[in-house]
Amino acid sequence: MALSSSTLCHQNLTKPYYISFHKQPHILSHLQFQTPPKTLTLDPKFTITGGCKLSGHVPISGSKNSALSILAATLCCSGTSKLHGVPNLSDTRTMASILRSLGAEIEACNGEMWINADGVGSVEPCPEDIGKIRGGFFVIGPLLARFGEAVVALPGGCDIGTRPVDLYIRGLRALGAIVELGDGKVRAQAANGRGLVGGRFRLDHPSVGATETLMMAACMADGVTVLSNVAKEPEVIDLARFLTGSGACVEGAGSDTLYIKGKNQLHGSECIVPPDRIEAGTFMLAAAITRSSISMSPVIPSHVACLIDKLLAAGCKITCAHDTLEVSAVPDDVGDNLQGFDVRTCPFPGFPTDLQPQTMVLLTTCNGSSIVEETVFENRMGHVRELQKLGARIQVCGSTAVICGKEKGSALLSSQLVAKDLRGGVSLVLAGLAAEGVTEISGIAHIDRGYENLDAKLRLLGADIKRLIPLTSPL
Ligand code: EPU
Repeated sequence: MALSSSTLCHQNLTKPYYISFHKQPHILSHLQFQTPPKTLTLDPKFTITGGCKLSGHVPISGSKNSALSILAATLCCSGTSKLHGVPNLSDTRTMASILRSLGAEIEACNGEMWINADGVGSVEPCPEDIGKIRGGFFVIGPLLARFGEAVVALPGGCDIGTRPVDLYIRGLRALGAIVELGDGKVRAQAANGRGLVGGRFRLDHPSVGATETLMMAACMADGVTVLSNVAKEPEVIDLARFLTGSGACVEGAGSDTLYIKGKNQLHGSECIVPPDRIEAGTFMLAAAITRSSISMSPVIPSHVACLIDKLLAAGCKITCAHDTLEVSAVPDDVGDNLQGFDVRTCPFPGFPTDLQPQTMVLLTTCNGSSIVEETVFENRMGHVRELQKLGARIQVCGSTAVICGKEKGSALLSSQLVAKDLRGGVSLVLAGLAAEGVTEISGIAHIDRGYENLDAKLRLLGADIKRLIPLTSPL
């Protein structure tokens, strides 16, 4: 089905999603892996020779953020939970390490993960690991619900704003917990040694993590919980689906209000982690930025509807068949120039903040001026300084950036860049694909947190990208 701005029909984009991973070639088995050359570098780097056109098909991995919350939820379950399509990322490995630090048994192989939390005997996960990722903090909900207490260090994650946990704390208090914050740790206990009790809580802001954490806690609280002004992100629905499959009673996922009836016990279940909408969006933008045509699957088109609208408005062609999406920005197909557009990030179903930096790169290659307004995180413009090194004409004022598009004959020029966070980091890779010459990007551990084999996937599409790893052995 070819899409156009006027015919972009959301009924086509909201079909229930079914995927049989067993019918798919193993997600990465056909990728060409390159043995990275060992060179004298201090940390791993990408070098990208820009200007290559992309073509072909790229497999989309399971969603990082869905996997993280579902992994936390397995702590609520007795017996074994089995997850398919867990992306092999440093963030998911850190989450597995957090669950192991509590006493859970985990086995992982080829994207499948078996988790048994029957032997969990600690309520304090490894603080160093919690300090690495935001999603680690979510375990406070299941631990408190199951054991009546939890001690969890303040979380880490990308440096994109202050990222407080006040909504988690106030929400858990509404479920009958006594919660204190001190020495960089949150200590929570169900009042009077009883378990959590159902309650009502309205989030000031539809925080994804707070919604997920409170949902998990409420699933095992005594009575009914009503959470309002909750996040509607697909990852919240994925988590609700896993919890329901494990015996929980959750209604309203995907709407403003969640109704949850607590159960004494949940049981392990099997689930497929749905595809990563942000990875899909990143590849869609890669096609547009390099004026190429690529296809990708599996994708749930309704999850990237906002980006589809923007790319269509810019002049790209997008075709969608079942769970495969094709994006073309080839000049023969769409004309010589793409048109710039404005973006304002918002909670789902608005434009995702996690695609803001990558979109900004596209806008530097389009006609005219564009405005990008970041409303979710207060400090998510760190990539701009790096893009300016490539000659991008971007002015930032607070959380708003004005991007002057391409002038006749102008192009991004290569440089040495530093990735400082996950999405900002991947935006530099996309810019390197379009820049003239060889771009070098350090700090790529940030990118490895959230993109499974990004360089191998880009090579599969024809990009000239190399991963240089530091010399660990003597010369
Ligand atoms: N906020 C508060 N108080 C809270 C919680 C959040 O003020 O108690 C604020 C935050 O400071 C932020 C806003 O609410 O300004 C939104 O934050 P939210 O809680 O929704 O984000 P999150 O749960 O910390 C998840 C994803 C992010 C994604 C955001 C928004 C995970 C592990 N992380 O973060 O993913 O950007 O939702 O969609 O699920 C990424 O993958 O690169 C990433 C940053």
